[in-house]
Amino acid sequence: ESGPELERAAGLIRDVPDYPSPGILFRDITPLLADAEAFTVVTTELASLVGDADLVAGVEARGFLLGAAVAVVAGTGVVPVRKAGKLPRVAGSRTYDLEYGTATLELPADTLAPGARVFLVDDVLATGGTAAAAADLLAEVGATVVGFGALLELTALNGRARLGDVPVHALLTA
Ligand code: PRP
Repeated sequence: ESGPELERAAGLIRDVPDYPSPGILFRDITPLLADAEAFTVVTTELASLVGDADLVAGVEARGFLLGAAVAVVAGTGVVPVRKAGKLPRVAGSRTYDLEYGTATLELPADTLAPGARVFLVDDVLATGGTAAAAADLLAEVGATVVGFGALLELTALNGRARLGDVPVHALLTA
């Protein structure tokens, strides 16, 4: 994707070397989110991908910020895909591998109707482990994942290959 507004938004992502561990280049989207024009353009672009989905799901934590904004623009509700241990009642959970250890995602009970069409949103697509786990979890509880939208895709890691048949969209690449 291009366009001067998106390009300007891309310029607001701050690269932080050696965070959270040595050798990792962290992509900090905070300055982009704090800029009204940039936040609006990325939200609008992601919302244009929602199509006929019933709901937007956002992945904790930065995916919540984007997912909620995208849902409002798209005219849908929003569902949080949470890290483990935060929900009073859980519809399902999925554990996936990280570089060191594992992480678990959970969905709230009594929120997703069977067959709900869900558009999944997160800030960054890196290895794809998080997005794949979230998509698998949504499918496991009976939702249909109609697409995944990320603000930024780190293409060298080929995370989109982990999403199987789910259409993957990224506004920006690095
Ligand atoms: C980051 C990012 C994605 C995920 C992408 O989240 O927000 O959710 O990593 O990485 P992957 O494609 O390799 O799975 P993080 O775990 O840092 O959580 P946070 O948003 O709560 O900081």
